[in-house]
Amino acid sequence: MYRLMKLPYSYDAFEPLLSYQTIYLHHDKLYTSYLERLNKLLKELNYDYRYSMVELLDHLDIFPVDQRDQVLFLLGGVLNHKLYFTSMSPEKNVEPMGELRKQIEKQYGSWDAFQIEVMRKANLMVGSGYTFIVVDKNHGIEVINLSNQETPYSYGMIPIAALDLWEHSYYLDDYHKRNQYISDFFSIIDFKEIGKRYEKTIKEN
Ligand SMILES: [Fe+2]
Repeated sequence: MYRLMKLPYSYDAFEPLLSYQTIYLHHDKLYTSYLERLNKLLKELNYDYRYSMVELLDHLDIFPVDQRDQVLFLLGGVLNHKLYFTSMSPEKNVEPMGELRKQIEKQYGSWDAFQIEVMRKANLMVGSGYTFIVVDKNHGIEVINLSNQETPYSYGMIPIAALDLWEHSYYLDDYHKRNQYISDFFSIIDFKEIGKRYEKTIKEN
């Protein structure tokens, strides 16, 4: 079975921006439900858990054709939520440092310009989905939007941060004001963790 990721902070860690209720429901109900449905389906398909979740994305052909979409959707739901919850921290690591900072400044001119680009992209999202910060094959940084539970791995990119833009992420706190939720993300984003992911990614790829 694939295991549940415990939250690395308390449910109220981001109050008042994101409430206890929002984080609790998002992690303990929504994300947990994706994981439970994934494990249930994989059990029905007699899967032996020989791959990590990311590796499994490259081996969906072990499943019957008519089940692959659902496996992919649930896998994406688990991977994207894990990335989202670990793209935030109450520790105020809100500015990129090291290699990631260098790459951002090389490509976007400044940290401020990059932040504006992430917000611009996120505000363009139509319907449900995520804005991702990804690493491409040349170790460059890109900001992309994907719908529903699509994952950047399916497009040959490695995600290092995710902003969940499904309404359940913010509606209890910000109602229809998604732009408020998007700009608040930069007060709780965890660039210490995201920077570590960037360095690991460029080392291993
Ligand atoms: Fe979500």
